[in-house]
Amino acid sequence: MTARVVLLGATGFTGRLTAEAMVRAGLAPVLAGRSVDALVALTGDLAGLGPMDAPPSWAVADASDPASVRALVHDPADVLVSTVGPFTRLGRAAVDAAVDQGCAYVDSTGEGPFIRAVFEDDGPRAERTGARLLTAFGYDYVPGNLAGALAIRAARAAGRVPTAVEVGYFVDGPAAMSSGTRASAAAIATDLPYALEGGQIVAGHGSVATFDVGGTSRDALPVGATEAFALARLDPGVRDVRTYLGWAGARTRAIHAASGAAAAAAQLPLAGDAIDSLAKRAADAPTGVGPARSEREHARTVAVARCLDGVGRHLSGSRVEGPSPYDLTADLLAWAAAMLLTGRNRGVGALGPADAFGLDPLVEGCAAMGLAPTAETT
Ligand SMILES: NC(=O)c1ccc[n+]([C@@H]2O[C@H](COP(=O)([O-])OP(=O)(O)OC[C@H]3O[C@@H](n4cnc5c(N)ncnc54)[C@H](OP(=O)(O)O)[C@@H]3O)[C@@H](O)[C@H]2O)c1
Repeated sequence: MTARVVLLGATGFTGRLTAEAMVRAGLAPVLAGRSVDALVALTGDLAGLGPMDAPPSWAVADASDPASVRALVHDPADVLVSTVGPFTRLGRAAVDAAVDQGCAYVDSTGEGPFIRAVFEDDGPRAERTGARLLTAFGYDYVPGNLAGALAIRAARAAGRVPTAVEVGYFVDGPAAMSSGTRASAAAIATDLPYALEGGQIVAGHGSVATFDVGGTSRDALPVGATEAFALARLDPGVRDVRTYLGWAGARTRAIHAASGAAAAAAQLPLAGDAIDSLAKRAADAPTGVGPARSEREHARTVAVARCLDGVGRHLSGSRVEGPSPYDLTADLLAWAAAMLLTGRNRGVGALGPADAFGLDPLVEGCAAMGLAPTAETT
């Protein structure tokens, strides 16, 4: 049987953007979800968008029925892409299906606890079956992995040994969020962020970090992310990796102070609401709702990274900029699916963006979708 790309969650907001990006890229994904009517309508909407040698097809699967998700993948060369969240509640079936089949898996999560489980628990299982697991392959957290890898490379090129990498994520312009992002934030709002400290993953409340972004100081909140697992693989000197989200602007320090023992960054979309009631409302909210194209056109992804030496001296820095978080996420998922489908990846287990594809192909692929280093990269 020919290898296939399967997109679970295709009828959601991010799923639809991803389906469109896949079709434009010449893929013919199997659109998977729980509503036949929505899948049929989406298949029709995609007609004429791309080369369409083989048009998309659809399949019914429910993330709360693991057997139905397992039935989506038949071949170790298949690629299962999931945009069904919250991942801490609904993500397990797709990871298990990919590990069981020994195929490739990509998802759109930004949820730290889920990312940690994929790297710590599912990665070793995947190494045994040959599965390739690429979690959080969207705005969260590819741009920071790219910026961090470029900063590490710049430090080494200058003959320096980087021991710590700090990454900050920002959005320039309107930072509107989809229904799914709010539901995911609510799902992890009481989980602590984590970082790599001295070569170990350590969870804790963390501190606010300040980054120089194009000459402006911007604060950001600590968050658990893939950089903590993936960046140290790129350089044996790196022992500390910390990732921060800078969406709150001037409210950053107040949110951090008010968040107590919880994940401050997860509370950005929730500010002003009681977490419990918002979690309930988010879970009941209609899916498929997110910022309109006209709004997304004014938003830009910005990620910065800096390398430090063992006594905290700045060694190198990088900044990457690209399209809006949702458009970028869709393009990244489609790109990763195409790379995996055609075998342009390396390694098995839980993988970061640079170790899965190599830094130069990652730089090239990201540049093609408009995510590129700025002149300020040193
Ligand atoms: N990392 C990033 O930068 C980034 C960017 C974008 C999105 N995300 C994440 O991606 C996820 C989706 O976001 P979104 O905005 O697309 O959300 P959404 O519009 O609410 O879509 C959620 C999708 O999940 C499907 N779904 C829900 N329960 C299901 C189940 N039991 N079985 C199968 N499918 C199920 C929904 O299907 P129905 O159509 O049947 O309701 C819908 O297709 C969220 O976790 C969000 O945080 C992350």
